[in-house]
Amino acid sequence: MKISIADHGSCLKAEEAYRRIMEGEDEFRDSLGWFDPGKWAGDRVLSRLDELASGLSSHSSVLVVIGIGGSNQGARALIDSIHSDKGVDIIWAGNTLSSYEFEHVVSEIGDRDFSIDVIAKNFQTLEPGVTFRLFRKLLEKKYGNGYSHRVFVTGTRGSELEKLCIDNGWTWLDFPSDIGGRYSVLSPVGLFPIAASGLDIHAFASGAIKASDDIASDPSMIIDYASMRYESYMKGFSMEMLSFFEPRLYRFSRWWTQLMAESEGKEGKALFPVAGSFSEDLHSIGQFIQEGSKTIIETFIKVSDGESRYPVPMTDIEDGFRYLDGKTLEDINKVAEDATIKAHSSVLPVNVLEIERIDEFNLGYLMMYFMRLCYLSGRVLGINPFDQNGVEEYKRRMFKGLGKS
Ligand code: PA5
Repeated sequence: MKISIADHGSCLKAEEAYRRIMEGEDEFRDSLGWFDPGKWAGDRVLSRLDELASGLSSHSSVLVVIGIGGSNQGARALIDSIHSDKGVDIIWAGNTLSSYEFEHVVSEIGDRDFSIDVIAKNFQTLEPGVTFRLFRKLLEKKYGNGYSHRVFVTGTRGSELEKLCIDNGWTWLDFPSDIGGRYSVLSPVGLFPIAASGLDIHAFASGAIKASDDIASDPSMIIDYASMRYESYMKGFSMEMLSFFEPRLYRFSRWWTQLMAESEGKEGKALFPVAGSFSEDLHSIGQFIQEGSKTIIETFIKVSDGESRYPVPMTDIEDGFRYLDGKTLEDINKVAEDATIKAHSSVLPVNVLEIERIDEFNLGYLMMYFMRLCYLSGRVLGINPFDQNGVEEYKRRMFKGLGKS
């Protein structure tokens, strides 16, 4: 990956934070299972997940993934960005309480055979909990009592969910106790749905391992970026926008938004993460970026190979676009991207992360890069990047409203 970080003042804080991380921060020892991708995405785990995915496809054409937040964003980022037509269809549920959305998922399944994968670290989160119950009912209605092989459960050892799993003969997958949801994509949490969708989890893990190795040999890859983010924040910038010219990265940007917001937004600090899907958002947020308040730093994800090449067809009609003759859609997208980077760089600090193509290896690389960056950046701010106490506030009020004791 090519990395270009905007000029920024010198910041020793990031170097110091990196050194402390590498020495091992005791307080976070129980949250760092993702740090070495070989731990939960090693060959043994990957082979078992491949086997489970192939068994699943022998009886189902749809897998409904029930989870919220970190439990589904990682897999969804990959599956929606790459689109495989080899495995089963993946449908997402459990991240909303809207009955309209529930009905929509049911109608998407239609009369196809389906299985479910419920992902819940502690199995107290309401949204996946109630959705799991609704889907068990649907399974029972369609298959009678013999549906246990259609239920996959990704939970933490020792949890209530594990007891239920054993009692009901469902298939168990580990949600590692030393990984929080938003850092879990390189564990069975993300890897099982990814494998089920037909994507190559081995290439995905290899990308993450490569990023980890590259950072070990050149820590400035993340130190410079973390410094730039911190210096910008101290100068009064309050947002970071992740921008891209391949709209299929939208779900990737949702994963990134969750990672950064839930990890860093604490103690009244941090850059607020937003996404820019271009060209569309150039015709809305683009105006703000160019002439609005100077509050945003921007990080582009550039893709050097856009793959498909559509030549702009010749025409006899004088439509005013003669200057496009002989170009491809891809050429034009690249020119628009370069022009945007130049225009935005004239008013804002702009970083560019360039990957070769959108595939398992490169997204594995990028995800590990961002997770390592996020940990470092959070430590430069002095916050705990692995808790999320703020999320409890709405839950407390909601549980009270629902009469939960
Ligand atoms: O990143 C996180 O820790 C959160 O977004 C969780 O993944 C999310 O709240 C779901 O939690 P659970 O798996 O316990 O239901």
